[in-house]
Amino acid sequence: MPDLSPGSQRSRIQKVSRNFFLHIHAPRVNLRSLKLTTTFGLGVALGFLFLILILTGVLLMLYYTPSEGQAYSSVKDIMYVVKGGRYIRNLHRWAAHGMVILAFLHLIRTFFTGAYLKGRRLNWIIGVAMLLVTLLLSFSGYLLPWDQLAYWAVTIGSNIAASARELTDALGMTQVFDPGGFVKQLLIGDEVVGQEALTRFYMLHIIFLPLTLLILMGVHFWRIRKDGGLARPADSREQDIHTWPTALWGELAVLMVSLAILMAAAFFFDAPLKELANPLLPENPAKSPWYFLGVQELISYSAFAGGIIIPVLFVAFLVSIPFRDREESHAGIWFSGIVGKRVTIASLFFSAAVTIGILFVNVNFGWLGDWFAGTPQVLIILINPGTVLAAAYAVWSVYQRRRTGSVHFSAMALFTCALVGLIILTFVGVWLRGPDWEFYWLRSNWPVQ
Ligand code: HEM
Repeated sequence: MPDLSPGSQRSRIQKVSRNFFLHIHAPRVNLRSLKLTTTFGLGVALGFLFLILILTGVLLMLYYTPSEGQAYSSVKDIMYVVKGGRYIRNLHRWAAHGMVILAFLHLIRTFFTGAYLKGRRLNWIIGVAMLLVTLLLSFSGYLLPWDQLAYWAVTIGSNIAASARELTDALGMTQVFDPGGFVKQLLIGDEVVGQEALTRFYMLHIIFLPLTLLILMGVHFWRIRKDGGLARPADSREQDIHTWPTALWGELAVLMVSLAILMAAAFFFDAPLKELANPLLPENPAKSPWYFLGVQELISYSAFAGGIIIPVLFVAFLVSIPFRDREESHAGIWFSGIVGKRVTIASLFFSAAVTIGILFVNVNFGWLGDWFAGTPQVLIILINPGTVLAAAYAVWSVYQRRRTGSVHFSAMALFTCALVGLIILTFVGVWLRGPDWEFYWLRSNWPVQ
């Protein structure tokens, strides 16, 4: 018989209120939410990596100096002089990359389980904001070592920020109206990357962005509780159980696996550190961090379309999903059953074929500017491989809407197309682009410089 005496009840309440774990979890959780295949533990692993980043970041701050003259040598000291410094730096770097990868995977899992439905709209939007902050957090850290890799990646990044200049240049109005220049100035405080940029990136990296992410994370977790736990289908038969301690074991297991992978990566692979930054010696090719290389590939077609129009459309699409799709019956079901699986697979093949096809044309035969001398730049901004791809994905999504009569499935089609396109473009940017952004099957084919 459970002891229901007032004394025992009080001590239970006291235990609960003192228990940190139960402060961020609801007292009861549905068994379905604890299954590995529901979440793959991605959200928990993300939160954990963020914690590791804060801990290792604080340690790195003890030795790092954010000045043009000393940044590089202070990172070198961390690597070669400070005991354990290299390991801490490796942990920090791989956890940052891990967070970017996991944030994308978590976005994919929440999308394909319809977890933005049933009142979870706000948490989805907070998630999109968190993804953007995570990318910026990682990018702002990229400059800090002040080596060639960092310097030229951020130079590319700051040029991406100024992409609007392609349009204002084409319209001949940059002299009077220069939003691209303004954004670039805001980001790096100068026309070229230097001390101003380093100071700004350092402040963004250690204060502003982590704090923003921390606040967003707090709201994200609170919303999960308010939304009644994780999304699950209306006819779900799984029971609710006490959160404590079962969920704790599950979360500890995710922590152990993440920690093991991270520690092994930090042990076997060193975070890169190239030569000291040299503003007079550009890297060729100068590549942004891998997660922006899909965008850099798009920018190679048109700076304005690739750096602004398409990314803004993509984020607007993500934000709009829960407003357009109200088909609640799909909540909590992977791929929304058989129809959704078919739509996803068909979209995957469609997008792969169209994306590779357009890339093939572009690499082998060039584009408008090569075919017709004197093509106006405004036309290239409007019609280039990137905008053609975006239009093809949109048409496919409308077609799926007509075919299935469902906004949900048309969103799945567009999401899948965009994702496959992003992966292919990123792959091309990382592996197949060489000096002057030319296409090479193998790195060994790059001309000797
Ligand atoms: C970047 C840091 C992020 C952290 C630390 C984080 C953390 C979490 C955690 C711990 C959960 C519950 C368990 C799980 O689903 O794995 C969760 C759920 C959720 N997350 Fe995130 N998340 C992040 C980013 C995102 C992103 C990028 C999105 C999508 C745009 C997103 C959307 C959601 C939604 C909709 C839920 C509710 C899932 C459901 O009801 O099944 N989150 N998040």
